[in-house]
Amino acid sequence: MSQSVLAPNDLEAYWMPFTANRAFKQAPRMLGRAKDMHYFTPDGRKLIDAAAGLWCCNAGHSRDPIVKAIQDQAAELDFSPPFQFGHPKAFQLATRLADLAPGDLDHVFFSNSGSEAVDTALKIAIAFHNVSGQGARQRLIGRVRGYHGVGFGGIAVGGMVANRKFFGSALPATDHLPATYNRAEQAFTRGEPEWGGHLADELENIVALHDASTIAAVIVEPMAGSTGALPAPRGYLQKLRAICDKYGILLIFDEVITGFGRLGHAFAAERYGVVPDMITFAKGVTSGTVPMGGVIVRKHVYDAFMKGPEHAVELFHGYTYSAHPLACAAALATLDVYEKEHLFENARKLESKWADAVHSLRGLPNVEDIRSIGIVGAIDLAPKADGAGKRGLDAMNEAFHRQDMLVRVAGDTIALSPPLMLNENHIAEIVDKVGKTIRAIA
Ligand SMILES: Cc1ncc(COP(=O)(O)O)c(C=O)c1O
Repeated sequence: MSQSVLAPNDLEAYWMPFTANRAFKQAPRMLGRAKDMHYFTPDGRKLIDAAAGLWCCNAGHSRDPIVKAIQDQAAELDFSPPFQFGHPKAFQLATRLADLAPGDLDHVFFSNSGSEAVDTALKIAIAFHNVSGQGARQRLIGRVRGYHGVGFGGIAVGGMVANRKFFGSALPATDHLPATYNRAEQAFTRGEPEWGGHLADELENIVALHDASTIAAVIVEPMAGSTGALPAPRGYLQKLRAICDKYGILLIFDEVITGFGRLGHAFAAERYGVVPDMITFAKGVTSGTVPMGGVIVRKHVYDAFMKGPEHAVELFHGYTYSAHPLACAAALATLDVYEKEHLFENARKLESKWADAVHSLRGLPNVEDIRSIGIVGAIDLAPKADGAGKRGLDAMNEAFHRQDMLVRVAGDTIALSPPLMLNENHIAEIVDKVGKTIRAIA
C-alpha cells in the first residue's frame, strides 16, 4: 500500500457516498483486501466482517469459484450489447433466478443496482396498467421508514426523511403506509413482531382517499433494512397481498437485502408464503462482486406486454449494462456456491443460535432495543445528548479501530448481517466484539 493513499491530504478528490466525508478523511477506515469472513486493512489488520460488506457478500469474500468465473468471463466475452442482442449466460441466469423465485415469478429484467431495480419495477407497474387499458393507475405507494435506493422513483416511495428533503418533490403521485415499528409494543422481539399486522389495513384508507383506479403498485421491503432492520409484523405481508388482490394493485417486494438467504430462504417471499407481483433484487445475487440488480416479474405481468406487432419493442426501458457478461458469470458462480454449500439452509439452521447470541446483549449500557431475524441483528443505542447518530459513529469507529470488526450503523443502530458462510464460532466472536464495543463507548 503506497503511503499516498494513507495520507489524509490525498483523500480529497473522492466525494464518498453516504459518508461523513470530513470525519472520514480525518480518520480513514481503509480496507485493502478480503477473504471469506474477513477484511484486511492495508496495513494487514484482520477484521471480522459483521455486515457482509453492505448486506451484499452473502457467500463470503473473494471466493475462488466466483473469482475464477469473473476472470474467465473477462477473457471470453467482455461485453455484449443487451438491446437486440443476447449472450447465453444472461438467459441461463434468468432461468436460474426464475427457478429460485416462488410461484409464477418467472421472467427477469436486469439492472445494475438496487436503485435501478426499484425504478425498473415502478416503471413496469405503471406501464403494465397502461398496456392493460388502465392508464389512470399511476400512483405508487411506499412506506414510512422504507428504503428503496436513491433514484427519483426510489426516494419518492421511500420513507427516509434525509433522502427526501433535499431533492424536491420527486414523483408527484405517491403515498405512504405507516411505519411498522413501534418500540412500546415490539421491543426485544425475536423474528416477526406479534404486534402490527393490522397496520396493513391502512392500505384500505389510502385506497379510500385516492381510489383504486388511480393506484398502480405498493412497494415494501419484507424487512426494512436500511432504517434499522425492522421485520414485517406477523400477518402484515399476507394482508397487503389480500388488499392488493382485492383492488387490482400490483404488490412489489423490494428484496435487495432480504434476497439470497438473508432470512433463510432464497427470497423472503418464500418465508412468508406470499407471492408478490414483482421482486427487486441486487447485492447478494453476485455476492457483491460485480454490480447487478433486477426485477423478477410474474407471468401475467410479462404476458401483458407481449402483444402488438412482433417487430416492436415491448418495454422502452433498459441499461447499457443490463445482464453484463461479467455480472452474469459472477451471479451464476455465486448461485452455485449458495447451492453447493447450502448457505440458505445454514442461515435457517443458525437463526435461533444467532438470535440467542444477539439478544444476550440486552442490559448493556444504552441498549434500548434489539431485533433479530434470519441472520440479521439490530441493536438500538440511546442517542447521545449532543446529536443523533454520534453514538452510532462511535460504535463503528470503536469496532473498526479497536475491536477488529466491520459493522454497519444506521443512525444509532448497529446493524449486523455477516456472510452466510458463518458458523457458531463466528457468531460468538461477533457478539463478543459488539458487547465490548458497546461497553467501550458507554
Ligand atoms: C431495500 C433496498 N432497496 C434498494 C436499495 C438500493 O440499492 P443500490 O444501493 O444497489 O442502488 C437498497 C440498498 O441498500 C435496499 O436496501
